[in-house]
Amino acid sequence: MSGVFDVLIIGCGAAGLSLALRLADHCRVAVVSKVTLSEGSTLYAQGGISAVLGAEDSVESHIQDTLIAGAGLCDPKIVRLVVSQGKQTIDWLLEHGVRFTEVETDDGTQQLHLTREGGHTHRRVVHADDATGRAVEKSLVSNARRHPNISLFEHHNTVDLITSKKIGCADRRILGAYVLDTKGQHVVTFRARKVALASGGACKAYLYTSNPDVCTGDGMAMAWRAGARVANMEFIQFHPTCLFHPHARSFLISEAVRGEGGRLLLPDGSPFMHRFDDRGELAPRDVVARAIDHEMKRLGLDCVFLDISHIPADFVRSHFPNIYAQCLKFNIDITEQPIPVVPAAHYTCGGVLTDQYGCTDIPGLYAIGEVACTGLHGANRMASNSLLECLVFAAQASKHILQTLPETSYPPELPTWDESRVTDSDEEVVVSHNWDELRRFMWDYVGIVRTNKRLERALRRVELLRQEIADYYGHFRVTSDLLELRNLVIVAELIIRSALSRQESRGLHFTLDYPQPNDAKPLEPTILIPKP
Ligand code: FAD
Ligand code: SIN
Repeated sequence: MSGVFDVLIIGCGAAGLSLALRLADHCRVAVVSKVTLSEGSTLYAQGGISAVLGAEDSVESHIQDTLIAGAGLCDPKIVRLVVSQGKQTIDWLLEHGVRFTEVETDDGTQQLHLTREGGHTHRRVVHADDATGRAVEKSLVSNARRHPNISLFEHHNTVDLITSKKIGCADRRILGAYVLDTKGQHVVTFRARKVALASGGACKAYLYTSNPDVCTGDGMAMAWRAGARVANMEFIQFHPTCLFHPHARSFLISEAVRGEGGRLLLPDGSPFMHRFDDRGELAPRDVVARAIDHEMKRLGLDCVFLDISHIPADFVRSHFPNIYAQCLKFNIDITEQPIPVVPAAHYTCGGVLTDQYGCTDIPGLYAIGEVACTGLHGANRMASNSLLECLVFAAQASKHILQTLPETSYPPELPTWDESRVTDSDEEVVVSHNWDELRRFMWDYVGIVRTNKRLERALRRVELLRQEIADYYGHFRVTSDLLELRNLVIVAELIIRSALSRQESRGLHFTLDYPQPNDAKPLEPTILIPKP
């Protein structure tokens, strides 16, 4: 099967579905998701969405906090653009049926409860208990399912973008994508006047991550292969507190737990964050993750502890029902005992370089959400600014798409996927082995604390893997695992090359060879340009 659409959106998270809903009254939209519709980081988002709603708060203050967390590398125009759309974004979600947690005010009326997270100087995080992403994703999916102009394709894994250059034209505009129908096991061609990447982040490049399995950086790798620049890939955010338990697969303990008074402790019960930063537990994530990493290495620990047992149990259970229930499954009652936690790769601050409308270097190709590098996060994303960015950039991209659609023709017939020179693999072990190897050396050599030597070691290995995988890809029929590995190896190389080129420590990029920021040089994002 193949299809022709006005807009093809790759990804069904907050970015992809909100873009689809903003477009669908005006044009025909296809949205593909490589597994089930809801699966992606959005579904697991806990803390919430930042927006200036409190009487004491202001847009200027939210801007300032974002700029501070971003360690000098945010684009101030983009920060203002995103932050100033906080309230209207929350209103849009409410109109689409998202139910956020409310509190009763003194005069008996209900208002949205605002929680607090690291880096924020005010309470400004709107949330649905401690499972905000689930509430958002559920509403967006149900709205999208009802819209007659939206065609949803589950289990459709995008292989590559198709540009006019690929079919022999001199220019390079977007025409569509090849997509593997993973149920039917065949590759279909989607033609579209516009394509939006909303395919999320790349933290599966690391052995330990809070991210679900779909986060393999596919959009970044596809855009790179198609000729688009990427930026700031060295800034991988490690969330300070993932549950440490042999059977808890990457379960996050929200920063909101610290926002509501949770304290980080060593095994002997002593607090340590005040030794690293005056803001203590509410310092930005890079500071907290590095402090934990430092203490774990110094004392040879497997984990540290996050304790909220001093806060009234009713409050804890009602504010963190999801975390409470998950921890209880592992016999940890968070109202009575501290939670063992470790840092894990959580968020890709860099991505496909875009302008304020989500436009990439390739005419007709947009990137929104975690796949993109818009300039909002700079060297470190502040908590709960990501969902806001997904939703604001979906709105921005929808404006540009609708404005330029009338002048964009439908693509011509495109060549179908050619499988004539490949066979079924008889060496699947190559894929699984390389997956493991890649994720382990990324964790060991390109993690929270880096050195030139470790990065160079990682680069040598990634170059070898890339060649091996390219060879494998050239000979065997595509599978989801192979496609993801092919993308991950590209993204890993982009992370390593970006890290090597930033010869200073800034935000999330910390290297023992240059432990200080270099403020003598003009501050620039790290931009990588693909070979023509
Ligand atoms: P995702 O929600 O990750 O969706 C990606 C989509 O792309 C999926 O549908 C996937 O199937 C699809 N896809 C990927 N590759 C392909 C392909 N090749 N072909 C077809 N489809 C593809 N941020 C906040 O602001 N607040 C929070 O409280 C918060 N909590 C978080 C908690 C956790 C555990 C995690 C992991 C992240 C959290 N974040 C939070 C970050 C935030 O959730 C993500 O950055 C955001 O949800 C990304 O949304 P997205 O739409 O860009 O991508
Ligand atoms: C969390 O709840 O700690 C995650 C928030 C975020 O990643 O923005």
